Order: sequence, then structure tokens, then C-alpha cells
Amino acid sequence: LRPSAFIPILCAEAFNPDDDDEVEEPRVVHPKTDEQRCRLQDACKDILLFKTLEQEQFSEVLDAMFELLVQPQEHVIDQGDDGDNFYVIERGIYDIVVLIDGIGKCVGQYDNKGSFGELALMYNTPRAATIIATQEGALWGLDRATFRRLIVKNNAKKRRLYEQFVESVPLLKSLELSERMKIVDVLGMKTFSDEERIIMQGDRADCFYIVESGDVKIMMKSKTKVNQEDNAEVEITRCSRGQYFGELALVTNKPRAASAYAVGEVKCLVIDIQAFERLLGSCKEIMKRNITHYEEQLVALFGSSMDLK
Ligand code: CMP
Ligand code: CMP
Repeated sequence: LRPSAFIPILCAEAFNPDDDDEVEEPRVVHPKTDEQRCRLQDACKDILLFKTLEQEQFSEVLDAMFELLVQPQEHVIDQGDDGDNFYVIERGIYDIVVLIDGIGKCVGQYDNKGSFGELALMYNTPRAATIIATQEGALWGLDRATFRRLIVKNNAKKRRLYEQFVESVPLLKSLELSERMKIVDVLGMKTFSDEERIIMQGDRADCFYIVESGDVKIMMKSKTKVNQEDNAEVEITRCSRGQYFGELALVTNKPRAASAYAVGEVKCLVIDIQAFERLLGSCKEIMKRNITHYEEQLVALFGSSMDLK
């Protein structure tokens, strides 16, 4: 796909080549109207890969992005191709199709948010999936060179920062080191202030959390008392450093079973549902086993079992 209406202006402004292993590339700027910039900022505010960038790098990324309109059935990416751009979704629904034994299988969908196309650019590999627009949609593209210069370089820093911590997370112990590092490459970091709600019971789920610091309180309204006035939230449990939450809805394909709140300032690693499916598939058994424990907790608290599965 080619940028639609805008011709890039290439500024000769140099970046510091000392700490960059890529061929020196000029800075890419696609001029935008204020209205476009607002839409772009909105589309990018929850993109996990941008969450650990410094402000300066993030502005460079925004400058380099260009708008693309797509038509129903358009293939934004074809599996096996070389990677040209990374994409952030502004709107539209996109199927993720992966060839399994030569047959295309839809393994997931992006619904009006998220991003894709990072893998081929990060690891210099062919595109790992085909992405098909199911309706008219809008995307923001980021060219390969800028992605590598800013995001891939930031990943080296992320690995240094989170490698040790990720090694210590019990859930991830069964993975190979290289698999854990792939998680680090795509994770985002979010901070929450005291009492801030991280997850709301009943919401649709699109990510999974690991606590890096602070405590997270899991609270639930009884499902058997829906619409009753005394249906206040009850604390079920707390998660601390190294523990995870928000996996249940991803494993069961159901809405969030409980709410989660920050106790004090909390930092969490965040993994989106697509990366969760791709990289944590082998940990799902451990997570499924834990559901019985959740159900026992609920029986103890509410006197009745709830069907979490
Ligand atoms: P890339 O390989 O560059 O191009 C296809 C993109 O699809 C890939 O990056 C990911 O961003 C995205 N994707 C989402 N789910 C999957 C999956 N299960 N396997 C491979 N790629 C996926
Ligand atoms: P999820 O349903 O995605 O969002 C709320 C999270 O609360 C849930 O995943 C679990 O990770 C966590 N949780 C902890 N204890 C329980 C419990 N007893 N029942 C349901 N969810 C629980």
C-alpha cells in the first residue's frame, strides 16, 4: 500500500549515528493538518509498542506516519511478502489469516483498534499473516526505516530493562528464553495511580497484565445479584509483583469476570490479545488450571459457584 495524499518531505536533519547500527536514513516527515494530527494521536494513544518511547522519539514517529484508506476485501498485508510498513488502526475491522497446512485460517480480528505488521520489520522475516480489511477502513502507516530506527532501537533498551524481571515471572518459566524475549519486544508498560480502575467487569478484553510494581485489587459484583441495590463490589484477591491478571477473558473468550484497581502507584507490563495468542499459547494450560481456583474463591465469597469457563 502506498501513502495516499501526502508526499514525504525528507529533512536532512541528522540523528546521532554513533549509537545506531542501521544505515543512516533521513528523517521522514509527512505533513498533517491539525485535524489529522488529532485523529492520529487518538489512534496511537494505546499502541503498546509506542508506550516505552521517549517523548522525542514518539513525536518523530507521529511525524513520519501517513494516512491510508482501505477498501473492503483489500489485503493490507500478504503472508510471505517482505515487510514495508507498520500499521496503526484508526477504524475498520481486519481479519488475521494464517496459512496452516496450506489453508488460510482466520486466527483473529482487529476491531477498530490496535496495530499490526511489526514482526517482519523487527525480525527481518517474511510477513507472518495476511491482514484483510472486511470493510472500508483507515490506517496510519509507519515506514520500515523509521520503524527500525526508532522502535527496534528502543527494543534493545526494553530488553535490558525488562529481561531480568520477565525471567522471574513464574507463569513464563516454561517458555524458552527466546520466546520470553519476543514477549519483551512487543509488550507495553502502563502506570496507574492509586485507585485507578485498570479493568472493568463486563468489558470486552483486548489485553493481559503482569504486575511489575505496586498491588492490584481484584473486585467483583456478584452475578447472582445483578440489578440489586446491595450488589456492591467485593474484594476477591490482590496481585503483586510478578503475578498476572486479565488472562481469564482472553482464555475463555468472555467479558471481563471482575474489575481490577490500582492500590498505590502501579506499573504493569501489558500484552495485547494477538501477542498473547501468538506467544503465550503454551502457557494457557497453566492459566486454565487456575480457573478452578477462581471458582473456589467465588464459592467461598458468594456462596455459589459461577461458571467462569
Ligand atoms: P507481520 O508478520 O509483519 O505481518 C503480519 C502481522 O499480523 C504480524 O506482523 C502481526 O502484527 C500480525 N499478527 C496478528 N496475529 C498473528 C499471528 N497469530 N501470527 C502471525 N502474525 C500475527
Ligand atoms: P479477566 O476476567 O480477564 O479480568 C478480571 C481478572 O480478575 C480475571 O481475568 C482474573 O485474572 C482476575 N481474577 C482473580 N481472581 C478471580 C476470581 N476468583 N474470579 C474471576 N477473576 C479473577
